[in-house]
Amino acid sequence: MSLPPSFFDAMYAAADDPWSMRTRWYEERKYALTTAVLPRRRYADGLEVGCSVGELTARLADRCDRLTGWDASAAVVERATARVAGRGHVRIEQATVPARPLPQVDLLVLSEVLYYLDAADLQRLLTQVAAAVRPGGTLLAVHWRHPVAEYPQTGDAVHQALRAALPWPRVAAHEEPDLLLDCWVAADAGDLRAASVAAAEDLW
Ligand SMILES: C[S@@+](CC[C@H](N)C(=O)[O-])C[C@H]1O[C@@H](n2cnc3c(N)ncnc32)[C@H](O)[C@@H]1O
Repeated sequence: MSLPPSFFDAMYAAADDPWSMRTRWYEERKYALTTAVLPRRRYADGLEVGCSVGELTARLADRCDRLTGWDASAAVVERATARVAGRGHVRIEQATVPARPLPQVDLLVLSEVLYYLDAADLQRLLTQVAAAVRPGGTLLAVHWRHPVAEYPQTGDAVHQALRAALPWPRVAAHEEPDLLLDCWVAADAGDLRAASVAAAEDLW
């Protein structure tokens, strides 16, 4: 079974920032990796699924004309909204995937969220992902690799499923003992120019 919103509501009732996203060097460095890998300087429409307290959202906001952060837990919407206060182009909403279908976007970020889904919900979401990213747009996924007893899936299993499901060329694949990060461009699998940051600036 996918972990329900009540699982996360309980975590947010017990701690303001349960994963210490505001303070841990591990998270700060991971956010730097995540934003560094994005192939475009700017995106028109971005969506981050599972935005939590909004730390990554705030960084993505610098790269998007419009950005939406979704989180299954109503408890955290206020905290994320406060984190992006004053940035009128960012909206935070309570939404649970895959029940809420993904809208069409130019940038979709799935950071530390897919391992909460069971196999059926993950497959449902992957079908939505393939239709949600506009042609030429970016999908970035990054996940913790170490097993967590309560989570239905591991980060490795999630990235394996993404790699099997998506017929797109990858801009980057980054592997560490602790995390996997993959970034795709929505384009034909063999279209390496579509996935090349250098080609976008006519360097080859
Ligand atoms: C570990 S935090 C990730 C925060 C942020 N994306 C990052 O990487 O720093 C995971 C968040 O995903 C949310 N979440 C879990 N399952 C979800 C689902 N099915 N749909 C939307 N959000 C979900 C949780 O409430 C939690 O706030």
